[in-house]
Amino acid sequence: MSAPDRTPFPIERVRRDTPGVENVVHFNNAGSALPPESVVTTVVEHVRREADIGGYEAADEAEDRLSSVYTSLAALIGAEARQIAVIENATRAWDMAVYGYPFKPGDRVITCRAEYVSNIIALLQLKQRFGIEIVLIDDDDEGQIDLSQLEAELARGATMMAMTHVPTSGGLINPAAEVGKLCTAYGVFYVLDACQSIGQVPLDVDTIGCDVLSATGRKYLRGPRGTGFLFVSDRALGVIEPPFLDLHAAKWVDDGEYVIRDDAKRFENWETNFAGKLGLGAAADYALELTVDATAPRLIALGEMLRSRLDRVAGVSVHDKGPDRGGIATFTVEGITAENVRAGLLASAVNTSVSTPGQARHDLAYRGLPTVVRASVHYYNTEAEIHRFIDVLQTSVIPRP
Ligand SMILES: Cc1ncc(COP(=O)(O)O)c(C=O)c1O
Repeated sequence: MSAPDRTPFPIERVRRDTPGVENVVHFNNAGSALPPESVVTTVVEHVRREADIGGYEAADEAEDRLSSVYTSLAALIGAEARQIAVIENATRAWDMAVYGYPFKPGDRVITCRAEYVSNIIALLQLKQRFGIEIVLIDDDDEGQIDLSQLEAELARGATMMAMTHVPTSGGLINPAAEVGKLCTAYGVFYVLDACQSIGQVPLDVDTIGCDVLSATGRKYLRGPRGTGFLFVSDRALGVIEPPFLDLHAAKWVDDGEYVIRDDAKRFENWETNFAGKLGLGAAADYALELTVDATAPRLIALGEMLRSRLDRVAGVSVHDKGPDRGGIATFTVEGITAENVRAGLLASAVNTSVSTPGQARHDLAYRGLPTVVRASVHYYNTEAEIHRFIDVLQTSVIPRP
């Protein structure tokens, strides 16, 4: 076994790289993180270049750098560049794979309580369209997906497993690799929504064993808004077909014939945000340089610290579950709505967001929770910012008795 890495975390450097930390205590990383300066410069310079020499010409000039975006994203998750499609967000990336699956009536799709709202809406539409059956696996006693119930349902026969790794509304980290082992054992197509986990915890598609993985740019990866990507394994490439095709995804080879390209780019479309794509690559490069292996322990420790400080505030209840938790903390304050807590914090330049039960029916609503405040930390946050957050909450948001 290799010795543990005792190199101190380069917190001064990452904060210097992150100009936004001068303005706000940003605990809305699960919404959209503050980007490092390298991402901002990359995007702005490309937009400037488009204005200076023309959009197509700027893209031609950046051809090599655009192609490295795929190499960088692939390296981040242990994949090959040809298995990556750059797509405008995690939802569309997930949709391209799942709407591209050749469902038949009666196909069973297994999912979990943490599954993202848009994915559930899509599955409900696919149920109406094709007569698929949606099977919901319960949480175990600790709050993560119940692996024994999952195995029992897989043994009954299933077509697809769709799981969200880290939900939008809580600290839970679902056991993605254990689920992958079960899916492999039962030959079930495994779709992992890694929207909140990319950049937050290390991801390796071989270890996880997923067929496809969807991710976004703007959250824990710290990329620009309006960017995301899809990983498609070689096996999955032979199973799913893009629900839409264009001249980038396919070639019109004869008057009545087309041929779909053979890599994951078949899930992309031709026109795209080139500046955003380059910015996404810069975000992946920044994560690769720091390494998610090195940033994740700090992020997880800050998440734990935030929850334990919140636990000690009178009138506050923390609602995160699961044996493994990351940087997202959800809580309510007795007698104050989550929206008002958020607004009170924002007035002191402390950014959070809220999660509504209507967007998490199988989780928050099922647990009988109202709208909760979501405070989500990143590795560039500090203990001092957690103190500040608690201080503002206690002094400016929660009225004194
Ligand atoms: C778990 C999860 N999946 C998917 C999404 C959707 O991502 P995007 O907004 O990039 O489509 C979100 C957004 O919050 C999310 O939290």
